[in-house]
Amino acid sequence: MPLNNEQISFFRTNGYLLVPGAMDIDLCAKVRDLMWAALPAGSALKREDAASHVGPIPTDETSQDSVFFRDGYRWLNRQLGVDQTVIDLIYSKRICTMAHQLVGGTLRQAVVNGTPMGSRGPVWPGGPTDPAQGTEGARGVYYTLPYGDKEREPDACHTDGHPFQLGVVGLIEDCPVDGGAFKVWPRSHERLYPTYKLRYDQPRIPYYDHLPTYKGIVHTEEYSAEVGSLNEDTKAVECYGNAGDVVFWHHRTAHMAGHNYSPQIRQAVLADFWTDDLDVFRTQDAGGDMWRDWSPELQNTADRAYSEEFAKVQRLSV
Ligand SMILES: [Fe+2]
Repeated sequence: MPLNNEQISFFRTNGYLLVPGAMDIDLCAKVRDLMWAALPAGSALKREDAASHVGPIPTDETSQDSVFFRDGYRWLNRQLGVDQTVIDLIYSKRICTMAHQLVGGTLRQAVVNGTPMGSRGPVWPGGPTDPAQGTEGARGVYYTLPYGDKEREPDACHTDGHPFQLGVVGLIEDCPVDGGAFKVWPRSHERLYPTYKLRYDQPRIPYYDHLPTYKGIVHTEEYSAEVGSLNEDTKAVECYGNAGDVVFWHHRTAHMAGHNYSPQIRQAVLADFWTDDLDVFRTQDAGGDMWRDWSPELQNTADRAYSEEFAKVQRLSV
């Protein structure tokens, strides 16, 4: 089922779109199996023992390997991003059709058994600025363990450094409110876009062993100020829901991985979409119409052409 005008308008206006039931739940279950199967034998995390799922990861089981990362409350498997099942799940015909309706152009195709995110690049080892080089599949399967008695923390948004055009986060298991679901800051895309120098990329300071003080993304002062304002004046939308639900989000939409105050693991698959033209678009000046390279369908859809009822379903509080 393709997106309708109301959905496209909502995405354009707010920088995100929740689409319940967009993924095959049998494939979600298969991916959950793959995640557990990839844990080292004898791990203290036991699938059938919920008490063992509470973070942090035991110190003798942490892994700083960027492809199989486990530390603190994060358990990330980027190798699964190039697994056939994961690619079938998150780059399904249905999801690609919706993504294409938004970004237009020719979608880049994921490569089964290709190079996973985090395999190489100037930021590895030692991250965490930009684990994107060589990414041929999805980002991977990202779990957030329950925080247990960890103290509550405020929300803080960011944007991602690596170039793409459209992000998607899909729940592969049910996730309750306050259960670590992805959070998005509505309308942040329109506020942040003009604070960048480049449309889909950003300048970086490289890392040198003998000059170790700084590496990573160079943000404009306007960007940092706007992110501060968003944290103050905008209520994040929490993308909780059921296995199979997805959220699409614009590259410049401010977001965060939610804190998990529930007793269960937050289980999600993350992926990016971009078109064959991204390599040209990414270095262009961020001035002008931010939608000029998106689909004609999106460009011809009016802002705010959605009902109050629809906004409520999208959890937008205005
Ligand atoms: Fe992010």
